[in-house]
Parts: sequence; structure tokens; C-alpha cells
Amino acid sequence: MKPNKPAKILITDDDSLVRDAVAKILEMFGHQVTPTGSGEEAISVLNDEFDLIILDINMPGMDGFDTIKAINERGYDIPVLFLTGAGSMEYAIKAINLGAYDFIQKPIEDIDLFNVKINRAIEKRMFILREKAYTENLEEEVAAKTKELAEKNKLLQQYSHHLEVASVNTIITLQTALEEKDQYTAGHTNRVTHYAMLIGRSLGLSQEDLAVLDRACQLHDVGKLVIDVSCIQKPGPLSDEEWQLVRKHPVIGENIIKPLSFLEREGGIVRHHHERLDGKGYPDGIGGDEIDLLTKIVTVADSYDAMTSQRSYRINLDRQQAIAELRKCVGTQFDGEVVEHFAGILEEDTTLTANSLQELQDSGFSGIFAG
Ligand SMILES: [Fe+2]
Repeated sequence: MKPNKPAKILITDDDSLVRDAVAKILEMFGHQVTPTGSGEEAISVLNDEFDLIILDINMPGMDGFDTIKAINERGYDIPVLFLTGAGSMEYAIKAINLGAYDFIQKPIEDIDLFNVKINRAIEKRMFILREKAYTENLEEEVAAKTKELAEKNKLLQQYSHHLEVASVNTIITLQTALEEKDQYTAGHTNRVTHYAMLIGRSLGLSQEDLAVLDRACQLHDVGKLVIDVSCIQKPGPLSDEEWQLVRKHPVIGENIIKPLSFLEREGGIVRHHHERLDGKGYPDGIGGDEIDLLTKIVTVADSYDAMTSQRSYRINLDRQQAIAELRKCVGTQFDGEVVEHFAGILEEDTTLTANSLQELQDSGFSGIFAG
């Protein structure tokens, strides 16, 4: 295959008669020739634009072998043809070892053979250039595709995140609407979330765990959505039958959010937020280390709010009474470390009351859901 434009050939021979004669023949075949008289001169004009280099072996200063070594160092991948007077096997082996492409006998007697060798070397160069271009294009294409994929992936993640947030918020909105119907439970979820987040931060939970804790608190009583409201809001203690019904809300809650697979951990916490350390809770009666830390936190926060919020059938406890009650139930109902962290927070921040959180509840402080 011939190149579209004339091939650029660098010829180096200290013998000007040979140099000029070879140059003339090459020009006759339509090539563009750059003649040089020494290896040093050849190296000084060499660049990646040349398609072929014809090199004499015996030259003063840098001989052909030194010159091809210097050419190789440039890494241009230009074929080198050695121009040799007497056919010497020793020279041939050395030249091939140094990366020579072929030999041309001088003086040039067979023009056709000379032309075949020149064209073959030029074709080799064209092949190398095509390969390089292909590799470069391929790299560019791969880089472009990778960038495109990364952008699409980012969009998908954003979309997915928005969907997750929207799904969770829809459930929470329903649950809040239910709570708000009852003056005794209004704000319960947000207060539990707030208490639990304070405990979680005090315990040094990771951002990921805090996010799970936040969502789990927001959803912990979602199962009450499908329990007869009159049962939950009823004045006075519940009957055994009514208790049976209420005790189903953790499992119902887990089932409600189960289709949202990204809420798997939250689902477990929702299911177990009424379990006790001594195994006497519900629905599964698990205990001790079977209950994970996030669940233990929700349990303490939930119980504290239940104790300090006025319920229809009993008077609420004050802060100190509630702390004492939590401590009393350490080991049977609650985890000691969680209770002590919470007690520390409550004793430090005396403004933290159910009433003071009423305003926070309206402003939607549960920041992890934002966006
Ligand atoms: Fe509950």
C-alpha cells in the first residue's frame, strides 16, 4: 500500500557520490529525500515525520551501528535499511540484532529490487502508523465511553437516591398524619429520632449507621398505620385482645417497608424495637447480643419518650424519674451503655424536653432525609 503523500526518506552516507545517486533514484520514484553526510547529522535532523531511514555502515564518527542505536532511543519506529558495500554475514547479524529492517547492496545495480525493498519498508512504516492511530483512537474511545458511563451511573444514582428518599418520605408522611390525629402521640416519631440520633452520635456511630438509625426511627411505628386507630388512641389501658393487636405492629411495619430493599437494616430494627435484653419482648423474644446496637438505641429512645409524654391513660414521668426508670431496667429491658450515654446527654442538656422538641418536629430536623 502506497501512502497518499510522498514518503519522507532520510539517507545518511559519508560518500556524497553514493548519497546523491541513491537520493536521485528515490526522488525518481516520487519520494521526498533528506540527505545527510554523517550519523551525527542524521540524528540532528531526525524526527517522527520520516517514513524510512537508509543508513551507511562505515562512516567516520558515529558509524551505522552507533547511529541506529541513537535512532532506537528516540522510539519512533521508523524502519532502517542498511546500505552496505560488501555482503558481510557478521555485519548482517549485528544489524539485525540492532533492529535493522533490511539491507541494500551498493552500488545499486537492480533498480527494481531496490524499489521493492524501499516500498516494503514504507509499507511497514504505514502499518506501524495505522496501528498507533488505532491504539490511540481506541484509548480515546475507551476514555470517552468510560466517562459517558460514569455520567450515566451518576445520574442513575441520583435518580435512585431521589426515589429512595421519596419512598421513605411518603411512608413517613402517612405515619406522621396518623400520629397527628392523636394529641398524645403527636411528635413521638420525631422525638424518638432526635433522642436516638443524640445517643448514636454520643456512641460515635459512623455516618452510615447514623443514616440507618435515623430512617429506622422515622419508620419504627409505621406498622401502626394498619392497626385500628381507636385501639391505639383509646383512653385507659388496653384489653388483652387490643394488646395482641398492638403487638403486631413491629412485624407489620417490617412488612410494609420490605419491598424497599434498600431498607433491609431498617426493617430489622423496626421488627425488633420492642424486644428486651432478657428475651421477654416481642415479636421474636430475642435477647442479649441478638439485638443489635441500633435497635437497642431505638428501644431506649422510644421508651423514654413513652415515659415522658402524657398518654391518655396515665401521667407522664419527669426527666429524673424517667432516667431512674431506664436505669432500673438495665440488663432486663435496656442496654446499660446506651442508657448511660442517654442519661449523660439528658443530664447535660436540661432544655431537652418533649415540649422543647415540639418545634423541632414541625421544622423536620431529621436532616438525613433532606434532598
Ligand atoms: Fe412501637
